[in-house]
Amino acid sequence: VPSGVFQILETPITSDLPLDSPLKLSLVLPTYNEADNIQSIVEILSNILDQSIPGEYELIVVDDNSPDETWKLALELTPQYPQLRVMRRTEEKGLSTAVIRGWQVARGKILAVIDADLQHPPEVLTQLLEEIEKGADLALASRHVEGGGVSEWSIIRRFLSRGAQMLGLLILPEVISRLSDPMSGYFMVRRSAIIGRSLSPVGYKILIEVAARGRIRWIGEAGYVFRERQAGESKVTWKQYIEYIQHLLRLRLSISARFIQFCLVGLSGVVVDMGFLYLLSDPNTLGLPLTRSKIIAAELAIINNFLWNDFWTFGDIARRQPGKRQRLKRLIKFNVICLAGLILNVLLLNVFFNVFNLNRYIANFLAIGLVTLWNFWFNLKLSWR
Ligand code: GDD
Ligand code: MN
Repeated sequence: VPSGVFQILETPITSDLPLDSPLKLSLVLPTYNEADNIQSIVEILSNILDQSIPGEYELIVVDDNSPDETWKLALELTPQYPQLRVMRRTEEKGLSTAVIRGWQVARGKILAVIDADLQHPPEVLTQLLEEIEKGADLALASRHVEGGGVSEWSIIRRFLSRGAQMLGLLILPEVISRLSDPMSGYFMVRRSAIIGRSLSPVGYKILIEVAARGRIRWIGEAGYVFRERQAGESKVTWKQYIEYIQHLLRLRLSISARFIQFCLVGLSGVVVDMGFLYLLSDPNTLGLPLTRSKIIAAELAIINNFLWNDFWTFGDIARRQPGKRQRLKRLIKFNVICLAGLILNVLLLNVFFNVFNLNRYIANFLAIGLVTLWNFWFNLKLSWR
């Protein structure tokens, strides 16, 4: 796509990112009625990036057909700023989808977003870049670490912002607790961390979607002070709070659904294990020695579980990594994690039984529960990445 050309994407919002990434950084600026800010923000960002990574970046303005014609002003800047591209959307609307649309045409290895109203201090960009260069998969500008804050927020707005964070911690702790400022709309993520992942956020908070669905091992943060708006006005209304709650619930449901599927598959494994133990070791059938029979039965159960998980529980992820080799890789990882889980199971059973003096069946039940969590978590992070 040549710079400065309007582009309206027809692909579904959940579709993949392109694989090629000749540039280092793609910075998306979502805009809606930012006519008074667009020129200064483009100028400031270009100055900073021309110094730190000249020729290796692009700025992508994604405008939702603003009545004040922000898109037109942005387009008029493109002769002067060749790294600037402009997308004008007429059908779709909304901040989060604007960001994803921008990333879908982006050519950078690092994908980023910043508000176009100058409330996000542009200098922090270089710190965020440093975090990624140090190895972070996700680097966010945060109001709640050293050097961060808000300038003149009312008690009510502070309260609402913290309340939203608490709610996030309650509904989606494993994601929200990793982010000191989950509401931040100023961050960078490695393309490789979200490639192949479907992103379909509701409303304003794209960061939560990226943190929940991406392959995010390491998160870097840089403090920033949320500035007051100099021009134009905020688009936040009560609707964004409702959408935020919907978004949290939707993510909760989709992560929990996976876990329940994983548990059901685990139960099917118990049936397979029992069945083969009978077939192999029972005196009325093959009559093999017990230990040998159990090892074969357990291995068959692991393969059974792997197949169900690969086609069902994690089917969406597996389908994006096709091929026999890839499947074999996943099977080996799954196998190793489950065998480690088995050892853990025995250890935990002993600890609960001998150290805590629990009833042996309660001890085993607890051990199985913990090992299921172990298996789910490590397979989610390692096998179906
Ligand atoms: N394309 C597009 N479509 N852009 C939009 C839309 C939309 O529907 N709504 C807002 N924007 C753009 C704005 O023009 C601005 O550049 C940016 O998104 C942020 O919108 P604001 O309305 O200024 O948001 P805010 O300052 O109240 O809220 C911000 O709160 C967080 C901190 O709590 C968020 O936008 C976050 O980015 C910020 O960190
Ligand atoms: Mn703003």
